[in-house]
Amino acid sequence: MNVLFIGDIVSSAGREVVKLMIPKIKSEYKVDFVIANAENSAGGFGITKKVYKELIEAGIDLFTMGNHTWDNKEVLEIINNENIIRPINFFPFMPGKGIYFNDILAVVNIQGRTFLDTPISPIISIKELINNGFFDKYKVIIMDFHGETTAEKMSIAYYLDGKITAFIGTHTHVQTNDYRILPNGTFYITDVGMCGAYNSIIGFKVEKIMEKLDTGLYNKFEPEKSKPYIFCAVLLFMDDKTYKIYDFKIFNEIIK
Ligand SMILES: [Fe+2]
Ligand SMILES: [Fe+2]
Repeated sequence: MNVLFIGDIVSSAGREVVKLMIPKIKSEYKVDFVIANAENSAGGFGITKKVYKELIEAGIDLFTMGNHTWDNKEVLEIINNENIIRPINFFPFMPGKGIYFNDILAVVNIQGRTFLDTPISPIISIKELINNGFFDKYKVIIMDFHGETTAEKMSIAYYLDGKITAFIGTHTHVQTNDYRILPNGTFYITDVGMCGAYNSIIGFKVEKIMEKLDTGLYNKFEPEKSKPYIFCAVLLFMDDKTYKIYDFKIFNEIIK
């Protein structure tokens, strides 16, 4: 079984490059399941119903979210759908859920605490999952860890090494080249990167951020829509009998 995980899709540029790349990857490799982080997919802030439909048509099977989950109120109309999850360590009374599962595969979305306003410590949620036997129930478990810092991500990944199939970092929008298989078999990358405009600051217009730097005044960030685009993802190749990862391919493509 092969799973494609696509990093934070930022705005229309991110959606365009995803629409270009998914068919291309599928024509070259067998892809059984496509996961994408969609917290910035609508104008850089959250997700709308229209964008959600557009991305399903593009071939995405499951959406993960993050600290921008609630930026667009339309998310409330889709957050209880089966194919969208938000960090599990939000307050329990908040809408949505943090886990997707089918007979073979489970995907967990969880948010880091360092430099992020996260209601519940990730380690509390992870210990709950351990106590509930979650890590023993599925052949393949993918974690989208939405976090700011390398050390927090690495610490959680080592904590879960051997318990999950893959730990994939999201949120910083910059791909790290520290991808590896940890000693007990878990795939790890600190951050898979983003999909969006390449000449941008994490997907947003450089000029707007320059103005803010220059004047010190508030300036609303605007998503950058121009080409070239960047596409960042990882494709995990798993043995169909053991479900262990035997190979992976990292995508960090600039598309003109
Ligand atoms: Fe993001
Ligand atoms: Fe984020």
